[in-house]
Amino acid sequence: MTHLARSRFPHRHLLGIAQLEAEDIELVLDLADSYVEVQRRPEKKLEILRGFTQINLFFESSTRTRTSFELAGKRLGADVVNMAVQHSAIRKGETLIDTAMTLNAMRPDVLVIRHADSGAVALLARHVRCSVINAGDGSHEHPTQALLDALTIRRRKGRIAGLTVAICGDIAHSRVARSNMLLLGRLGARVRAVGPRTLVPREIASYGVEIHHDMRRGLEGADIVMMLRLQTERMQGSFVPSVREYFRFYGLTRDKLRHAAPDALIMHPGPMNRGVEIDGEVADDIHRSAILDQVEMGVAVRMACLDLLTRDRRPAADGDGFRPEGG
Ligand code: NCD
Repeated sequence: MTHLARSRFPHRHLLGIAQLEAEDIELVLDLADSYVEVQRRPEKKLEILRGFTQINLFFESSTRTRTSFELAGKRLGADVVNMAVQHSAIRKGETLIDTAMTLNAMRPDVLVIRHADSGAVALLARHVRCSVINAGDGSHEHPTQALLDALTIRRRKGRIAGLTVAICGDIAHSRVARSNMLLLGRLGARVRAVGPRTLVPREIASYGVEIHHDMRRGLEGADIVMMLRLQTERMQGSFVPSVREYFRFYGLTRDKLRHAAPDALIMHPGPMNRGVEIDGEVADDIHRSAILDQVEMGVAVRMACLDLLTRDRRPAADGDGFRPEGG
């Protein structure tokens, strides 16, 4: 425990997995493991971030990610403010950078930002003094999702190195896929990108993944089957002939799942479209599906990230209130 309380995270912002070394990732996961225990107690609230302000600025709609960040901040004792962008000055023509500078002048300690444009979060981070966490920028990165996926896998399988992970579906438009390919590769998993040619372009191979257009072959022996939604909001034009056709070839059904390892774990970042990328019955199989575990791990991982990013600004960071075993 002590090594966790003392460890320093050498980053001010969490903008992507691309900036993290394997040991940074492991530090987040180890700390998040202890926060899972905190969350399972009746009394969940710590004082680590008392006096700190966290602003959640979501330019794209979100339910689970925003709620998860809000709970994480509150469980650490921070004051958390959710900015509803629909009503903000952005709608009145203010630029993104002006919004960031205005918020910065209110002296938050952490800004959690989601934006529809790849690179927008990194741009904002250059104009503020606080820590910035990327909660998803366009089809670029969604680092806390990959970290929570890794925590889910590590807890269910005991390791990440050496596992075969099949990421299936709309890889082209998915920030979840990009962050996961980077993280899983860095921790030594074998990653496959599985889907139609239109959604798994050849350039994806530059992430060090194997490409499969045949779902059955892509699933062969996989330990983890990670399904992704068709991100129609990011598609210009038509990428699949029809939803029915898509489900027939790429939807995860019991039949296709038989090609994966017998104890393969099913994952999905949500929101899930039943009958499009996944059969409802497969998604609900409590023995195989880790989808709700992922949601639980999300809060713990975000608590770990908030804790690590603010450590250098907290007095006595090596003991202040983080007592997961005791209270
Ligand atoms: C994902 C996202 O927003 O990138 N959702 C999430 O954060 N849980 C995936 C998606 O929208 O399909």
